[in-house]
Amino acid sequence: MTARGSCTVIVGAQWGDEGKGKIVDVLAENVDIVARYQGGANAGHTVHVGDDEFVLHQIPSGILHPGRRCLLGNGVVLDVRQFFQEYDGVVARGIDIDGRIGVSYRAQLLMPYHQLLDKAVEHAAATKIGTTGRGIGPAYEDKAGRRGVRVADLLNQDRLAKRIEAARSRVEGKLDELGVPAARLDEAMDETLALSDRLLAIASDVGPEISAALEEGKHVLLEGAQGTALDLDHGTYPFVTSSNTTAGGAATGTGIGPTSITDVIGIVKAYTTRVGEGPLPSAMTQEMDEHVRKLGGEFGATTGRPRRCGWFDAVLTRYASQVNGLTGIAVTKLDVFDTMPEVKIATAYRMPDGKERRFFPADTWSLSEIEPVYETMPGWEAPTGDVRKLEDLPKNARAYLDRIEELTNAPVRWVSVGTKRSQIIPIG
Ligand code: IMP
Repeated sequence: MTARGSCTVIVGAQWGDEGKGKIVDVLAENVDIVARYQGGANAGHTVHVGDDEFVLHQIPSGILHPGRRCLLGNGVVLDVRQFFQEYDGVVARGIDIDGRIGVSYRAQLLMPYHQLLDKAVEHAAATKIGTTGRGIGPAYEDKAGRRGVRVADLLNQDRLAKRIEAARSRVEGKLDELGVPAARLDEAMDETLALSDRLLAIASDVGPEISAALEEGKHVLLEGAQGTALDLDHGTYPFVTSSNTTAGGAATGTGIGPTSITDVIGIVKAYTTRVGEGPLPSAMTQEMDEHVRKLGGEFGATTGRPRRCGWFDAVLTRYASQVNGLTGIAVTKLDVFDTMPEVKIATAYRMPDGKERRFFPADTWSLSEIEPVYETMPGWEAPTGDVRKLEDLPKNARAYLDRIEELTNAPVRWVSVGTKRSQIIPIG
C-alpha cells in the first residue's frame, strides 16, 4: 500500500555528534511522530530551547514540541532506569509528556549486567573501542545471540525470570573470568524490574502505529543516533557502535517497509569530530584541534570526553551519501568557523603507494596510513549567527557550502549557525 504521509530519516553522516538533535528539534515543528530506531543511552542529543538546555539520551528530541508523539523502535536497546530518570526529568521541567511516549514491545532491554560487562571487557581489551560504557555492545550481543530480554517479555513474569536467569548467569560467568565483582547487581536488577509496569503502560506496536499514521497522511521523522562511520556494517569496524546507524536501520529498527521512507537527510558538521578510539583521517594539527574544540564546545554530551577535531572530510560524506541514499544534507555549526582565516576540505586520500583514492576504504587500518588531500578555501571572518537567509551569508561561507554540496553529492537543505532553535537557515 502506498503511504500518503511523509517519512523523513535523519542520519549522522560522520562519526556522530553532528547536531542531529538540533535539526530534529527544528523539523519536529512540522511532524506528528518522532521515532528513534537504534542505539540507547550512548547517544546524547543536546537541544536549546530559549535559554534552556536539554540533553536527551533515549527520549527523541521531538518531545520538546507540544503534542508530538515520540516512539522508541524495536532497534533500540532500552536502559529502563535511565529512561525513566530522563522521563521524570523532562516532566519536572514542565513538559507535558503524558500519552506522548511509546516504546516498542520488540525493543531489547539493556540490563545492569550489560553495563558491567561493557566496562569490564573494554578495560581488559587489547584493542580498545573507547565505548561509552553504557552496555550497548553486550546488549546487542545478547540480541543477536537470541538471549535478549524484550519489553514483551515483561508480560509474563515466569518467562521473564527464566530469560533473565539464562542471560545473567552467562554474563556473571564472563565477569568471573575477567575477575570483576558483580557489584550492586541485585539492587540494580530490582530497580529495573520494579519499573516493569510503568514500561508496559507505554508499550506500543511501533511499526503498525507508524504505518497507520503514514496511511492517514501524517508526517513522521525517524531519528538516528551516532553516525554513518559508527555503523556496525558500514563504519570504521571494529571502532563502531553495535547497531545500524544508517538509513537502512531506520526501516528495520522501527518495523516499517523501506518504501515508506520519503526523504533521507544527512547531518554534517562544518568540520569533523570523533570521540572514542579509531582513525580520524582529516585530523587537525594539535594546536588547531584545541582551538576548534574550544570554539565548538566539542565535549561528549554523554561522557564529557573531549572530541578530536578534523577538517571536513568529503571522502567520508560522499560515502555517507551513497550508503544512506541521502536526498539532502543539513550543515551544522558553520558559525564555529566564523573567525578562521582559511578552511580546508579533504577531497581524497593519498595512499602509501602515492595513489589517490576518492572512496572510503573498507580496510579501517589503512585509514591510519593515508594522507588526506586538502583543498584550502578562504575563510569568511564575519559573524553568521544572526543570518537567516542563504543570500545574507558571507560570499566565502556560501562558496564553502557550495563545495560541500558538490563533493558530498547531496543538496544543502539547512544550515545551522548557532545552538538556538531560531539559528537556522532553511534552503529551497
Ligand atoms: P558504544 O556505542 O558505547 O559501544 O561505543 C562505541 C563507539 O561509538 C565509541 O567510539 C563511542 O565513542 C562511539 N559513540 C557511541 N555513541 C556515540 C555518540 O552518540 N556520539 C559519538 N560517538 C559515539
